[in-house]
Amino acid sequence: MAIAAASKGTRHTVRLASQTDFAGWRDAARTLALQGVDPSDVSWTIDGNDAVDLFASPTAIANLPPVPATAELRVPRRFVDLAEAVICHSDPARFGFLYRILWRLQREPHLLSVATDPDVRRLEEMEKSVRRDIHKMRAFVRFRRIADEAGERFVAWFEPAHFIVERNAPFFVRRFTGMRWTILTPQATADWDGTNLAIGPGASKADAPAEDAAEELWRTYFRSIFNPARLKVKAMAAEMPKKYWRNLPEASLIPDLIAGAEKSAREMIERMPTMPAPHHQTVQAKHWKNRPEETQTNGADAASIAELRQAAAGCRRCPLWRDATQTVFGEGPENARVVFVGEQPGDQEDIAGKPFVGPAGRLFDAIIEDAGIERATTYVTNAVKHFKFEPRGKRRIHARPNAGEIQACRWWIGHELKLIKPDLVVALGATAAQSLLGKAVPITKMRGQTVTREDGLEVFLTVHPSYLLRLPDDAKAAERGRFLADMLAVKKLMA
Ligand code: URA
Repeated sequence: MAIAAASKGTRHTVRLASQTDFAGWRDAARTLALQGVDPSDVSWTIDGNDAVDLFASPTAIANLPPVPATAELRVPRRFVDLAEAVICHSDPARFGFLYRILWRLQREPHLLSVATDPDVRRLEEMEKSVRRDIHKMRAFVRFRRIADEAGERFVAWFEPAHFIVERNAPFFVRRFTGMRWTILTPQATADWDGTNLAIGPGASKADAPAEDAAEELWRTYFRSIFNPARLKVKAMAAEMPKKYWRNLPEASLIPDLIAGAEKSAREMIERMPTMPAPHHQTVQAKHWKNRPEETQTNGADAASIAELRQAAAGCRRCPLWRDATQTVFGEGPENARVVFVGEQPGDQEDIAGKPFVGPAGRLFDAIIEDAGIERATTYVTNAVKHFKFEPRGKRRIHARPNAGEIQACRWWIGHELKLIKPDLVVALGATAAQSLLGKAVPITKMRGQTVTREDGLEVFLTVHPSYLLRLPDDAKAAERGRFLADMLAVKKLMA
């Protein structure tokens, strides 16, 4: 490697094409380093931005003696990677700083492994800061939909800390290839028309469109995924620093969500499923006492619901009996004119041994009461009679019964209906409908309809009340209204 001895004290000015002109910096830095130009003799400026260096004498770098063709400048690959990132940093001194490191590397080839060196530490911190800014931009850019002459376009306003738009734009191209979008920032604009990416000059916030309807949707989503029990304000502030809040539609919710988190967490804990009751084994054993498999009845000859319930207590038609506490059989008068069929017992029903006594049951009770239906006059049961769950830590999380489990349990529901002979059966949700009709049906499309089975039984279809529990607060009222309307229709059919 030939490093010429440039005369010390002669100033050189390098004009770069833009704030992120890495190629320009690299070419100039290579020439300067090969000529042995001392870093303190170089001024770096951006084209059209003379204010960067007021004191440089206008010695053009081109006036340096030519670099011999054979000259070779060796730098570690790691330095090139770091320099490519650090060139995006907002520190105006970065060009000179990077050149100083390059210059030092010619004399100290292992410089980058000296972790205590102040220049190396600063270089790594700058790279980290740029990397973090890139990550934040990916996480916090929020597009707003607008319509222009060519159709739908998405526009976002973002305020990065560094000059990262150009470096980050290919990520957005990959992520949103099929959309036409523009990201406006004070430093630069990235524009993707579906085919070409263009990087333009910076913009102002006033150029970005105002709030659109999609943002309300996003806020609703954010509210619904916000888990108060997981709230760690410090971690959240580190991940979502306040400076980004002003451009995030969901940020307006954060103070209220944090304020309400303690109360919500308490409510969440109250709603948490409990562990199997301590007497789980005892209750199970009671059901199985003196009932070895070969002496069990399958209920086929049961003459009453009480006998059928007795038979079902020892049901082993599918494996769900193993983990559940007990069979939760139907409940209500044997001469009920209407039968409500749910999916399967939940956590609280499994322990109580009664259907619809947990949160979904309480909501169900309240709504049918509003519809003028007295639960005590109806028979309430489930398509599947054992609680299916997945243990998660100390909790038992409801798991949907599969087709085989639904089919195995049709035996019981079939016999319940034969004994009761109701005028109407109400299928609450998809599992009940599948059990009653013998096939899966699109419940949201068919809700409110009555299907007549081959045996003449009328089956009214609607959603499961637990669906209402899962909705965000602002959607609950409307859906409760729809469920009430379904229950009023049931009441009418009962008349
Ligand atoms: N969900 C149901 O489907 N049935 C119950 O008994 C309780 C909740």
